[in-house]
Amino acid sequence: MTTPLTPFIGRRVEQQVAGQATRDGDGVKLTRVLTQAHQRRLDPFLMLDNFGSDDPKDYGGGFPDHPHRGFETVTYMISGRMRHKDSAGHEGLLQNGGVQWMTAGRGVIHSEMPEQEDGVMEGFQLWLNLPSHQKMCAPGYRDIQTAQVPELTTPEGVTVRVISGESQGVLGAVHRPAELFPTCPLYLDIHFQQDGIFKQALKAAHNAFLFVYRGTATVVSDGQETLVALHRMAILQNEGNGIEIKAASGSKVLLIAGQPLHEPIAQHGPFVMNTREELIQAVDDFRAGLLA
Ligand code: CO
Repeated sequence: MTTPLTPFIGRRVEQQVAGQATRDGDGVKLTRVLTQAHQRRLDPFLMLDNFGSDDPKDYGGGFPDHPHRGFETVTYMISGRMRHKDSAGHEGLLQNGGVQWMTAGRGVIHSEMPEQEDGVMEGFQLWLNLPSHQKMCAPGYRDIQTAQVPELTTPEGVTVRVISGESQGVLGAVHRPAELFPTCPLYLDIHFQQDGIFKQALKAAHNAFLFVYRGTATVVSDGQETLVALHRMAILQNEGNGIEIKAASGSKVLLIAGQPLHEPIAQHGPFVMNTREELIQAVDDFRAGLLA
């Protein structure tokens, strides 16, 4: 019996984004790569921040106590040590290669504070929306140490850390039933150990983007090549059934995709709900101490 082969059609780059330099928390210097301007286009993703500095003045203040409601935060530490504590009683140390996956749900107050006085602090924080029926769910928290992140290496010498979703038959550290978490996030950290090509299947409905954090990467689609420079986010068109990335040795790329929710997005700072009334309620609940 033969299996019919579906031809691979790689997505094209729709737009490249440089992000905005800003500070958040207690003065932590970062680049907001995915801003509010892209929330509709990249539904269900609400934000991507990239922080990276070897100057303690850029990160020493950390992120003291602050609230969240209505979505999930996924923090991926490339280098450094950060301690998380939240009002639901969770505590964890986030360090080199580890992931913290926090489901804020109806609300938590948490802090993310550096546990280093010098050296490099580098990583990412992604905000992933929750569907309306889960925005008020109980808060959850998972601390995933680097050894718990599944890795695969392709014959081309490309190593893939599968944080969430599935790649080449390998399930990610976070893999949840679509009935419960309909955004089905794919989160891959792709390392090119030598010059090579990496292909990943993507569902056409899923919105997807990549971010280059070492070297450069080239997106290949039907013979057309688009170079994505260092520290650029490339939003991918939805046509096609996957993505083909070509890169030189040493390049590192995040690939993130998910099923859009197609629901209204109402954001006020750290609260992301569906309506203005729900935002007012969130602020009222926070002031009344109900998120603690
Ligand atoms: Co936070």
